[in-house]
Amino acid sequence: MTIKLTWYGHSTWGIDVAEHRIILDPFFDENPASPVKADQVEADFILVSHGHFDHIADAASIANRTGAQVVANYEIATWLNTQHNVENTLGMNLGGKVDLPFGTVQMTMAHHSSQLPDGSYGGFPSGFRLTIGDQTIYFACDTALFTDMKLYASDVAVLPIGDLFTMGPEDSVAATQLIAPSKVIPTHYNTWPPIEQDVNQWVDQVRASTSAEPVVFKAGESIEI
Ligand code: NI
Ligand code: MN
Repeated sequence: MTIKLTWYGHSTWGIDVAEHRIILDPFFDENPASPVKADQVEADFILVSHGHFDHIADAASIANRTGAQVVANYEIATWLNTQHNVENTLGMNLGGKVDLPFGTVQMTMAHHSSQLPDGSYGGFPSGFRLTIGDQTIYFACDTALFTDMKLYASDVAVLPIGDLFTMGPEDSVAATQLIAPSKVIPTHYNTWPPIEQDVNQWVDQVRASTSAEPVVFKAGESIEI
């Protein structure tokens, strides 16, 4: 099965599987790295990893315009429904799996925080592990390094490298060793000065210390994986 990934800068991803369009952590309008605005985005499903602004900012507007189903933890799904009139939500929680038309989505652990933009409790932060055809893709989302990542062994890993708010380049190389993917993709970096990273140095470290192929996207770029 062909899976097309598109990076919209920061931590926002498009995942196209056949006719299904999935957006992970929609942050477009105030994302300085995004080449498109939220009203240009089409989606059938929106996955939200946690409550922080840079992951949820445009979830409600895109969902309410397109009718996309928002998949998030129970607290965030409820907040989107009651505070932003999003009707089509699917609340889940850590460790749970759900079969959707494009594949299976598992909500994975993440070591981070999840307060919503208005100060509401956002439940636990998460990542997502997608099983699409015979491929597994693990989006760690915002998290520190943790050894249980070895439980999320996947063909493709999408890992934060920005440091400060998430794991940085060195820990993402250690995470790559635990997950043992054939491809590893960096995310959550270079959006703003505090999370600037030299991605070429990271590529060299991945090549030197892991058997994964580093795949670096430019913002707006789509690659079939
Ligand atoms: Ni965050
Ligand atoms: Mn973030």
